[in-house]
Amino acid sequence: MDFQLSEEQIMIRDMVREFAENEVKPSAAERDAKEEFPDDLVVKVAELGLMGVAIPEEWGGAGMDYVSYAIAVEELSKVDASLGVIVSVNNSLVCEPFKNYATDEQKEKYLKPLASGEKLGAYALSEAQSGSDAANIKTKAIPDGDHYVINGQKMWITNGGSSDIVLAFCMTNEELGPKGINCLIAEKGTPGFEVGKKEEKLGIRSSDTTSLVFEDCRVPAENRLGDEGKGFIVAMTTLDAGRIGIAAQAVGIAQASIDESIKFARERIAFGRPITKFQAIQFYLADLQTKVDAARLLTWKACWLYDQRQKYTKEAAMAKTFASEVAMEAAIKAIQIHGGYGYSREYPVERFLRDAKITEIYEGTSEIQRLVIARDLLKG
Ligand code: CAA
Repeated sequence: MDFQLSEEQIMIRDMVREFAENEVKPSAAERDAKEEFPDDLVVKVAELGLMGVAIPEEWGGAGMDYVSYAIAVEELSKVDASLGVIVSVNNSLVCEPFKNYATDEQKEKYLKPLASGEKLGAYALSEAQSGSDAANIKTKAIPDGDHYVINGQKMWITNGGSSDIVLAFCMTNEELGPKGINCLIAEKGTPGFEVGKKEEKLGIRSSDTTSLVFEDCRVPAENRLGDEGKGFIVAMTTLDAGRIGIAAQAVGIAQASIDESIKFARERIAFGRPITKFQAIQFYLADLQTKVDAARLLTWKACWLYDQRQKYTKEAAMAKTFASEVAMEAAIKAIQIHGGYGYSREYPVERFLRDAKITEIYEGTSEIQRLVIARDLLKG
């Protein structure tokens, strides 16, 4: 067992940390207030090779391991969790299934521009009636000659309005249940495919969450990702990888909550002393850092299993559950440590709390993660 990061992993951590501190952090609060998508930063992130971190170089990616990917998402999320999820979705919910299921022609046409960051991707699974119950898809994809005709509406799609390429999970044969689902590649600009309502959100406000509307949208049959009827497996295996990204995002928010609290507590004088001198504050910080280290180790363990090509469904679910709950706890404690200042927009910790909450919800709620973990424990 080796807890030492490799030279390459240290290099990416330092590079992303410097970029995040200098170029992302200064404007993060303003983007949050204005609900502004960071177009310019997404271009810069792509130039740094962060839109396809674990995608092989021959397909436009950086060819690094999944630990490096988690480190990159954590560092970005420490200063701006919105940018963290934009990057995470492109990497693990879009590039990842292309890497695993696409034909070479599809990889050439779609994965290369997605992994290099020339194009942005979105993953469209959820619908009004289908969040946790992911197989209950009502959007239809009916074969018609050498095309599928898509009708229906997707909801809460991260990168929805800003993406160029969308993976749309559609029902082709309802009688077959999950085995009747197909994953189709839909390009923006295809007639019958429109971006719908933009959500106004509690947190991750500078990420772009929209509905997507399909009305008699014709997509070539060659745009099916994976075999006929394998869409649900594509969706589930992809979410396994995505949950690691969200765990890393949560670790970033949690670590930032501690870092900002230490900075504040060193300067805040009460009863004639900096509040770091009080044991209540010391214990808060000690407990939180212990939990954040545990969350990071769970996340990196899931990454390690991914890198070893072993199954990691349970470990990804554990990492996401634990890290997201630690992020909530750390953000709430950070506000407590800041006192009245923490409740104000002047300090970033109230944003951390608003951003942390979604990590317990998207890519599978904490309740669904516990179900996934328990099913694995009790199988056989
Ligand atoms: N890997 C491989 N196969 C899997 C799998 C996995 N992780 N999970 C399920 N499967 C397979 C099952 O083995 C089964 O195959 P067989 O029929 O051949 O045995 C098939 O898929 C159906 O599985 P289940 O019977 O377990 O299906 P279910 O309907 O009971 O649902 C669930 C299981 C785990 C609850 C699933 O619905 C789920 O994960 N729900 C949460 C959905 C979710 O995370 N949504 C997030 C939306 S995306 C998002 O948030 C993105 C964003 O914008 C940031």
